[in-house]
Amino acid sequence: MRILNFGSLNIDNVYHVDDFVQPGETKKSLGFEVFPGGKGLNQSVALARAGADVYHAGKIGADGLWLVELMRQSGVQVNLIRESDCNTGKAIIQVSNAGQNAIILYDGANQTMDPVFIDEVLSNFQASDILVLQNEINLVPEIIDQAWERGMQIALNPSPANEVIRQCYLGKVRWLLLNEIEGEWLTGKKMPEEIADALVESYPNMEVVLTLGGQGVLYRSREKKCYQEAFKVDVVDTTGAGDTFTGYFLKCAAAGESPEKALRTASKAASIAVSRSGAAVSIPYWKEVQ
Ligand code: RIB
Repeated sequence: MRILNFGSLNIDNVYHVDDFVQPGETKKSLGFEVFPGGKGLNQSVALARAGADVYHAGKIGADGLWLVELMRQSGVQVNLIRESDCNTGKAIIQVSNAGQNAIILYDGANQTMDPVFIDEVLSNFQASDILVLQNEINLVPEIIDQAWERGMQIALNPSPANEVIRQCYLGKVRWLLLNEIEGEWLTGKKMPEEIADALVESYPNMEVVLTLGGQGVLYRSREKKCYQEAFKVDVVDTTGAGDTFTGYFLKCAAAGESPEKALRTASKAASIAVSRSGAAVSIPYWKEVQ
């Protein structure tokens, strides 16, 4: 079974700060680094480092060729990444001493998907292959519809949550991986259990994976409900931890592992990722997670 990740690629400009800058404030950073990132890229790297057969489709500008090299080295198939006339997507990220982040995105080439490219990409895949999506590229609802028509199984990380997600028919999504804020935004419910229940009630074929940060993660489907605690580590940088979790969870789920086992492995991988700096570069390989 092959996994297609149709997603963003960003250049992450990371500023280390004691605490986030406030409105009207100018502050010196404690350090600056440039990393490969983007939710799409990070999730492809996590899938590949977990051992999945993953193909990434997306677009970069001329300034982003080095991102593709990192993906290739991690084991991602990169022949469906195209160069656009726009600049590569960018993220400006503040990482605080507590390891939390605040992110501003510039879409760039990530918003240049078009129907011809989508058709070209999807024509390489078949029924039962898996499509992974986030919400940092354009035409996400259209990609879901076309992949569904081809019989692909769809995993959606509706992040960042915005009106585009409301245009997606979530009944076509098998795995929905989201955090509490996105869950509340989608369902209007506040408590994790209520969020998961509401989603499965509306979409009975969906498997909901609700990440709760340091509080762990909740899994809910029609048949099953289970929970995994977060592993305790010293937090250095949480950027990309959710993406690491998503990639590892989907690799395990695609391999037919139980939700309990998939949650445990993915939580371990995410805990390793938060214990070091950067997004994609912090993602562990399978052997380290084991
Ligand atoms: O999920 C983390 C990612 O979000 C960063 O790498 C940044 O590029 C933004 O897309």
